[in-house]
Amino acid sequence: MVTKDTQNYTFLTEEHLMIQGAARDFAQNEIAPIAAEFDESGEFPMQTIKKMGQMGFMGIEVPEEYGGAGMDTLAYVLALEEICKADASHGTIMSVNNSLFCHGILKFGTEEQKHKYVGGVARGEKIGAYSLTEPMSGSDAGTMKSRAVKNGDGYVINGRKSWVTSGPVADYILVFTMTDAERGHNGISAFLIDGDTPGLIRGKKEPKLGIRASATSELVFEDCRVPASALLGKEGEGFKIAMTVLDAGRIGIASQALGIAEAAYAASVGYVREREAFGQPIGQFQGTAFKIADMKTRIEAARALIHNAALAKMRAKDSGERYTLEASMAKLFASETAMFVAHHAVQIHGGMGYSKELPVERYFRDAKITEIYEGTSEIQRMVIARMETGLR
Ligand code: CAA
Repeated sequence: MVTKDTQNYTFLTEEHLMIQGAARDFAQNEIAPIAAEFDESGEFPMQTIKKMGQMGFMGIEVPEEYGGAGMDTLAYVLALEEICKADASHGTIMSVNNSLFCHGILKFGTEEQKHKYVGGVARGEKIGAYSLTEPMSGSDAGTMKSRAVKNGDGYVINGRKSWVTSGPVADYILVFTMTDAERGHNGISAFLIDGDTPGLIRGKKEPKLGIRASATSELVFEDCRVPASALLGKEGEGFKIAMTVLDAGRIGIASQALGIAEAAYAASVGYVREREAFGQPIGQFQGTAFKIADMKTRIEAARALIHNAALAKMRAKDSGERYTLEASMAKLFASETAMFVAHHAVQIHGGMGYSKELPVERYFRDAKITEIYEGTSEIQRMVIARMETGLR
């Protein structure tokens, strides 16, 4: 079921439409057929992730000189949306590699760090992860308990990180930890850590409601020694790096949410045309028709906010301005749209919406995480209101 989507966006170039088409074909041919199986088993889809890397989807905005596709944020959101129409788990892995890992290193890393860490991840040969959250600090990210203590020419890290996307399999991890607890936010530093560093232990894998093929785990640091060259940016800059990178990440999660919403919507339009009750297609009942209208309208509003945020990020490349507001609005609205649309999609499908025989129940389970990770809806509202009022 193809629904009218990006035709009105005249700022999209041939190149944008090309990557959108390539991602759509790949997603429908290679990912959609295996999505239910990987959701059921919870296995990490390494093979398709590697193929996505070969297609350039793991480093869309990474300049070619660092091994990426050298495209812009619009290309990224279009491709990610298509992947997520087929499977949000693949989308999560893609989004972390692109925006939380590669983007952070390109923005804050030294030449040496860029050359060492970005290429493999952008080509899908390596998996990147971003580790901010801890068991007792999620939304209040500035209150983390893990510590990195200077020792000789390096640091020794101790503590427990949680909810790390791709944690069980990541080759490289961007970790945020306290180097000077007395300075609060300004005492947090960012480190780039190789996955095989002694003292870095993969902790419990989370048994999740949705995005089950995207592996999420704790990471435990026990006297984990890293060299001074592992520092990303300067000591004490970690919180701002984490927040800056999350601004980019949130645009990705908004696109993921849009992809899930579109898949749930397309299934619903097909179903209301065909399924009959009381002598007519159920789409002719006003109660169903109004649901379809609201689903479509919210999807298109989410798309507009996402394109707006992508354009703001592209402008920021030259101006250096923040696009926090645009990113948070896109993530807030798109994720709540995904949940709204998936909820209606299940209801429209009735019993079939509740069955694993159709993907609609998976869309419903996958949609929920978009309102939680990379900043809950409540955090997005807080960010938006603070930016608008200047009040805290
Ligand atoms: N860009 C740059 N700087 C920023 C920033 C941004 N987006 N947001 C805040 N800052 C700066 C502020 O300007 C401030 O700087 P000064 O000290 O110089 O004034 C500093 O950072 C501290 O900011 P706040 O006082 O606003 O900090 P806060 O403690 O009130 O928290 C918050 C702000 C927005 C609530 C933040 O804590 C937050 O975003 N929390 C949610 C965390 C989150 O999204 N976690 C998800 C982790 S990733 C994940 O989900 C798993 C995965 O693997 C994908």
